[in-house]
Amino acid sequence: MPAAQDTPTTSPIGRPTPRVDGPVKVSGRAQYTSDFHFPDQLYALPVEATIANGRVLTLDTTAAEKMVGVRAIFHRNNIGKIYRSTPGPGFEGITEERRPPFEDDVVRYYGQYIALAVADTFESAKAAADSVRVTYAKDKPNVETDLKADDDPDVIVATFGPRERLQSQRGNAELAFATASVKIDQTYVTPAETHNPIELHATTALWDGSTLTLYESSQGVFNLRGVLAQMFGLPKENVRVITKFVGSGFGSKLFPWTQCSLAAAAAMRLARPVKLVVSRRMMFQTTGHRPRTQQRVRLGATSDGKLVSLQHDYVYDRSMLDAHHEDCGEATPFQYSVPNLRVTFGRARRNIGATADMRGPGAVTGLYATESAMNELAELLKMDPVRLRAINEPKVDESLGIPFSSRHLLECFELGAEKFGWSKRTPEVGSMKREGQILGWGIAGCSWIAARFPAAASVQLRDDGTARVACGTQDIGTGTYTNLAQLASQRTGVPLEKVEVALGDTSLPEGPISGGSMVTGSVVPAVFAAADSAIASLLTVAATTPGSPFEKHAPADLGFEAGRVFVKADGAAKSVPFAELLRRANLRLVSGAGQSEGTFGNPTPKFSTHSFGCHFVEVTWQPEIARLRVSRVVTVIDAGRIVNPLAGRNQIEGAVVMGIGMALLEHTSYDPQTGAPINSNLADYVMAVNADVPPIEVHFLDFPDKEINELGARGIGEIGLAGFAAAVTAAVHHATGVRARELPIKLEDLLV
Ligand code: MOS
Repeated sequence: MPAAQDTPTTSPIGRPTPRVDGPVKVSGRAQYTSDFHFPDQLYALPVEATIANGRVLTLDTTAAEKMVGVRAIFHRNNIGKIYRSTPGPGFEGITEERRPPFEDDVVRYYGQYIALAVADTFESAKAAADSVRVTYAKDKPNVETDLKADDDPDVIVATFGPRERLQSQRGNAELAFATASVKIDQTYVTPAETHNPIELHATTALWDGSTLTLYESSQGVFNLRGVLAQMFGLPKENVRVITKFVGSGFGSKLFPWTQCSLAAAAAMRLARPVKLVVSRRMMFQTTGHRPRTQQRVRLGATSDGKLVSLQHDYVYDRSMLDAHHEDCGEATPFQYSVPNLRVTFGRARRNIGATADMRGPGAVTGLYATESAMNELAELLKMDPVRLRAINEPKVDESLGIPFSSRHLLECFELGAEKFGWSKRTPEVGSMKREGQILGWGIAGCSWIAARFPAAASVQLRDDGTARVACGTQDIGTGTYTNLAQLASQRTGVPLEKVEVALGDTSLPEGPISGGSMVTGSVVPAVFAAADSAIASLLTVAATTPGSPFEKHAPADLGFEAGRVFVKADGAAKSVPFAELLRRANLRLVSGAGQSEGTFGNPTPKFSTHSFGCHFVEVTWQPEIARLRVSRVVTVIDAGRIVNPLAGRNQIEGAVVMGIGMALLEHTSYDPQTGAPINSNLADYVMAVNADVPPIEVHFLDFPDKEINELGARGIGEIGLAGFAAAVTAAVHHATGVRARELPIKLEDLLV
């Protein structure tokens, strides 16, 4: 079986490549949104509601307005008009929180912005925001954790995801379950989790007449441009969004939050640049979080382990006005072979901030439940859980009735089992020990959607032998600068260090949102087409410039390889570097544009396109001191061709660290009295840190998926988190005998 390891290749593709933006980052020269400063810039800070359900009765700004350095206190009656935004074609105009700030006097969640202080300094803005006096008409908030689907229909339809509550169905799942000889019927719960990128959400807004420029920490500058154009009633051409570097997003920065339009409105009113950096506490209230989910999974199987029925009924919570879809059932219909299947969902409204995509939305929550149920079924059957997956491996995507473009889940399990030493497992609870400690071993499979978004790019070849590649996508810390340099280098022959990369700006060719693990796969065809177009221009120059060594030839007779032009009939031995040809023609550069279509959301696909993978996890349990640790991880990922194995490994390792947090630590809890997220800081919101993380072994299979692009590269940003928590809970069961079905596993769950 081919396995892609860190073997150097002569091509930049597949070569472990340190980040090209590494030097500017480690030297502090990389400018993140809050690092941009402008003359006359003011600072804004929102006033947060301290109730979660009710109405603002009075807002007394007198004291705040009199404070030194305070320029304005904005609220519903003086901010001016901020319109709603509605999703347009593609990714344009999408917000998770549909209500613009200050639209009415209703408070629907704790921390909702109800006023905005603007001052000369951050400190003055903070003091002023704290001095605004508010009275409320207060109702009891609904932050109930037991989720039952609302029975009234949705006012607002989710931007993504199925419209029907019956999401997928084949055969007769109920009947097959009733008559199955082996059954699992369990409910699994995942908590609200909050993304915590280290870089806080930040906006700096500048107006020049009716033109708005926004510096923003964003995973999608073009969508944000569309949102702002709609909110302020401007042509899109009058809005420019710039995001040079992002200190990570995890989905929280896919779509803009209310601080963007507040900063823009304040900057317009005061005719001064306004900077608004939200606080860590606000990040738990107003910038999205992964919803809580409650998922009932029913599996029916024959006594030899063949699935006959799969029912997955899930409910998640959401804010009062919004309709984010947490697609827990995304992978369920195709992950395993089963003739009878039913997937349904429901939503429960709560007084919480808008829920949002968080790394691997839907698949991460959903696969935790379905993979846990598979592990429980294996135990009931007294069968190796890896073997249970093998028995139920589908030949095609049974929900769509089409083949997979490339599916190597079982090879992932084979390699993982070998690397982990799975054959040494003894299945009895508590039966494995090392140095006096009890070991637990667990596994799970995973998958994540693979597709392309539309993308455009430009490539320049310049007379000093350098190249420039530009695309209005973003690098959210995943290595997009480096990937673009690799792609341009591959196609033009310009060495990596001589490729300049420009991204994160709506003045560049329209690039995809940094979401769905789809940037790399999406930009491959656009960058290659742009490079080819620049090369075509170069060949015309070479053939038409007086005095050029190729003057007597037609462009079609000329070839280009490794940055050099030659006559095809003569072969590459007598070739001339492109820079020399440009200099002879007195041209600084030739440029080319390229674009490619998206495949995401294609209603009639020919292939089912996904990445696959698996996790093998070992935990160590010391009952004497109630100490549980994840002590070993082997993760194998089948994501097609890996463009940069160094950054790729980094993505999977980061996801596994997040998975340890998901399984054992992370949760956002709401106070039933006030509705406030009570652990809204990085001391109380506990995440996995270095001491929680063992060495992580990552392996990539190497099966290029040519349905996605000519390199065969799918995405790797999210899949590493999917399934991981199910492998941990299985390992914990193996060590302790406790089957935890609500995340995170708490120590008290194990003290039985
Ligand atoms: Mo990812 S949740 O699509 O940023």
